[in-house]
Amino acid sequence: MKAPCLPAAYLLAACWLAAGAAVADDKPANPAVPAEFRGADLALGERLIREHRCSECHIRRVGGDGSAIYRPTGRIGRPAALLAMVEYCSTELKLQLFPEDVQAVAAVLQRDHYRFKPAP
Ligand code: HEC
Repeated sequence: MKAPCLPAAYLLAACWLAAGAAVADDKPANPAVPAEFRGADLALGERLIREHRCSECHIRRVGGDGSAIYRPTGRIGRPAALLAMVEYCSTELKLQLFPEDVQAVAAVLQRDHYRFKPAP
């Protein structure tokens, strides 16, 4: 039976976590990183961000290198929201990312821009 994935964003995030954890077992947990992003494939995330030209569109919107679009103190204020946003963009842009892809992309944004602290 498939795990029930209810449509609320935080529940979706929990489902991706479950999926992410399955592929991430062989990596050591990094306690400095929120649980949502642990074990993510950062190289994969970097490649997906390049391939899908995320920055180009963001640059058109905010200028610079596009990173001003990422606002850790705004709407995207916690790891689950970041995961949900990447999933939303993926759907909107019809990227057809797998949950582990979404986690990888979000983990790169976490590392480079959002830097959320792990839950205590
Ligand atoms: C077609 C244009 C476009 C593309 C391509 C695009 N984005 Fe965005 N993205 C936007 C716009 C516009 C916003 C800002 C929406 C707003 O005003 O809050 C945004 C916002 C975001 C945010 C939220 C920023 C914040 O802190 O509020 C994230 C995360 C994000 N994009 C991730 C991505 C990723 C990852 C990709 C590539 C897989 C991507 N985007 C590709 C247009 C785009």
